[in-house]
Amino acid sequence: MCRIIFLASIIHRVVKTMTKVAICYGSRYGTTTEIVHEMVKAAEEADASVEVFELKKKQPDSVDNYDLILIGSGIQAGQWTKEPLKFMVSNLESLSNRKVALFVVCGDAGNPELCDSAQRDYLDAIAAKYPGISPVSTGFFGGMFDFKRYNFAVRTLVKSIVKKRTPKGEEVPEIIDYRDWDKIKEWTKNVVQL
Ligand SMILES: Cc1cc2nc3c(=O)[nH]c(=O)nc-3n(C[C@H](O)[C@H](O)[C@H](O)COP(=O)(O)O)c2cc1C
Repeated sequence: MCRIIFLASIIHRVVKTMTKVAICYGSRYGTTTEIVHEMVKAAEEADASVEVFELKKKQPDSVDNYDLILIGSGIQAGQWTKEPLKFMVSNLESLSNRKVALFVVCGDAGNPELCDSAQRDYLDAIAAKYPGISPVSTGFFGGMFDFKRYNFAVRTLVKSIVKKRTPKGEEVPEIIDYRDWDKIKEWTKNVVQL
């Protein structure tokens, strides 16, 4: 009996001191969701407990229940998806009292010439737009172009943009994958330990 009580108290202490993380994000074509799955594994390996909220499907009851809130989005036409932006507006006061980190998943991260401006436009500008949210870190990740996932109009448009950046004579591949899993894991492990 004593042993059970002792074990229960240890488990209680471990659970109590675990960093509680919420990952709140928006994705249009699923790449950010796949990246978030990897973030969950990395955060758990760093002894955090994680809840995931794809914001168009569900929202956390209260951000006050978490030590750290990761807020992110895939980028479309230079913009975040609308749900995480709305989420920040609706929870601005609570988020200003909590540890927050922002991340984006985008195509520009795959092109070294575009990385600086993309970091500025997709992350620094978003942080500046919501005073009160002072991110402890920003994660800037390459995403993926998977032309099968798009409808005809989007496929045609995006292919023509990508084609302009493809060396002459080369075909645009059906999948262009810029995801750097080591970078994603490393950022997540670091941020949950901040
Ligand atoms: C219609 C469309 C527009 C896009 N516009 C941009 C853009 O303006 N800048 C950028 O860096 N990446 C852009 N991308 C690339 C996406 O950010 C990338 O595919 C990312 O993985 C999307 O994440 P998601 O699958 O979670 O929506 C675009 C992709 C699509 C399909």
